Amino acid sequence: MSAAAVLVAAGAGERLAAGAPKGFVVLGGEVLLVHAARALRDAGCFDVLVVVVPEGREADAAVLLRDAEVPAEVCAGGRTRQESVAKGLARCDQDVIAVHDAARALVSVELVRATVQALTPDWDAAAPAERLVDTVKRVDPEDGRVVETVNRAVLRAVQTPQVFRRELLLRLHGEAHGSDATDDLLLVEQAGGRVRLVEGERRNLKITTGEDLLFAEALLREDARP
Ligand code: CTP
Ligand code: MG
Repeated sequence: MSAAAVLVAAGAGERLAAGAPKGFVVLGGEVLLVHAARALRDAGCFDVLVVVVPEGREADAAVLLRDAEVPAEVCAGGRTRQESVAKGLARCDQDVIAVHDAARALVSVELVRATVQALTPDWDAAAPAERLVDTVKRVDPEDGRVVETVNRAVLRAVQTPQVFRRELLLRLHGEAHGSDATDDLLLVEQAGGRVRLVEGERRNLKITTGEDLLFAEALLREDARP
């Protein structure tokens, strides 16, 4: 079965505030989108890699990917993550599509493979997820007062890559036009589909703030230790 990866890197990176769109921020000598693209290449699961970047940054991304020897098609994203995913999706006609956030730059090759392999015929989507470490409270949205403690055992924090059959994802994206689902699994769940979770990894964190970037740098330094 043929598979494609769509790497979304078209966000502004406002919370990171590093003076460049997040995909173009340097981490350990390489920009985030190249880190992520290389892991997707090295996983060896994909026939095609589409990298979605902010409009006007296509040529920059193409140069960075070429220098890193990562074969990829580059296209412009949209205003929301969902639009960016849809634009990448329009570039591939493989049966299976993995959507990955460039913000999760340190995803491991093993995790990419495990997630793709988890999409067996009984399931409509697959993704990595982690158990929560913090105690979680439900609050009253009006005044922030604690209403109850949520049972952590039934909660998972979901990561990417999120893997789907193209036909289903295209249909759901068509129906969801205009909404801003921050994750594509939501569309599958809402349509009553079966989503399979595999064990996520801490190093696959979503780099959102400057502190996350520092943590990611420390992980890379640790990787480089003999
Ligand atoms: N993304 C995208 N197109 C958008 C918005 C987000 O491709 N219009 C991508 C981002 O590049 C990122 C992933 O979706 O890889 C998750 O988004 P997030 O972590 O929120 O990144 P940004 O939107 O760039 O960050 P911020 O919200 O702080 O601006
Ligand atoms: Mg965002």
